[in-house]
Amino acid sequence: MSGNLDHWQDLAAFHGTGNDDYYDIPALVSGEASLRATEQGALDRATDGSGVAGLRVAHVQSHIGIDSIHLARLGAQVTAFDFSPLALERLRELARRCGVEVTTEVADSQQLATGAFAQWHGQFDLVYATVGVICWIADLDSWMRGADALLAPGGRLVLVELHPLLCMPETLDPLVIDYPYVNDGVRHYSGTGSYANADADLSWTIDQYAWSLGETVNAAVGAGLEIVRLDEHVSIPFDPRGSLLRREDDGMYRMRLGTGTGDAPAEPLPVLFTLIAQSRRAQQVP
Ligand SMILES: C[S@@+](CC[C@H](N)C(=O)[O-])C[C@H]1O[C@@H](n2cnc3c(N)ncnc32)[C@H](O)[C@@H]1O
Repeated sequence: MSGNLDHWQDLAAFHGTGNDDYYDIPALVSGEASLRATEQGALDRATDGSGVAGLRVAHVQSHIGIDSIHLARLGAQVTAFDFSPLALERLRELARRCGVEVTTEVADSQQLATGAFAQWHGQFDLVYATVGVICWIADLDSWMRGADALLAPGGRLVLVELHPLLCMPETLDPLVIDYPYVNDGVRHYSGTGSYANADADLSWTIDQYAWSLGETVNAAVGAGLEIVRLDEHVSIPFDPRGSLLRREDDGMYRMRLGTGTGDAPAEPLPVLFTLIAQSRRAQQVP
């Protein structure tokens, strides 16, 4: 765990400082950038099209808060949770530059259901977490219990996450599969760089965890959440694995293996999923 925290403290210091194309801070500050289509689509579905304006949103594992700021600009009251104090410091500075308010709380997201975070329990209409979140989590049941605890009665979890199939290959050609589909405990890795800039002068030792789609849904159900929707997506507007996927003519990235029939390319495999789940907690009778 401290390896993971050290890694994320380093990435929080590095990302969005002009060294990567992934975190475009000038576009964010000028108001040009907006939520990516997948995340916007997930929020539209979670809110039945009414949007996040006026909603209380817990952004879990916010990193430096790019989406927290987008959500605040859309009129949400946002609280960002992350275990990296530096990420939240960067977030507060970015929010100030963008002229929006975002509350921050340092938290291991596996602890959110505990009494230490009681002040936040039942306080949110949406719990929002995206792309590269659950692979850091050893105890997904606790993570889901935390999401459930934060939600007000009827509130919804919106989890947009890497599809477990996208996490499995090391390379597509040749096809090398070195990561499990279902959870088999911790995997230790060390290396250099960042997903936002492979040449970044950063070295790391991290722990990661595979979670299948079934395990993710079952953890949500086990925490008491009701599944509203589970969508799988076969294209993505960026390559979250850095250089695994190929950008196609429409600007989207897809994961294709082998050949299709005739001149047709191979059919794309899922690369992302969106889980929307709802708190079953009943409204308190005064
Ligand atoms: C890949 S980032 C999320 C990306 C974010 N959606 C974005 O667009 O920048 C993962 C985040 O999870 C946080 N994190 C990792 N493990 C955590 C844990 N156990 N508790 C809380 N935050 C954690 C990291 O600090 C990092 O900010």
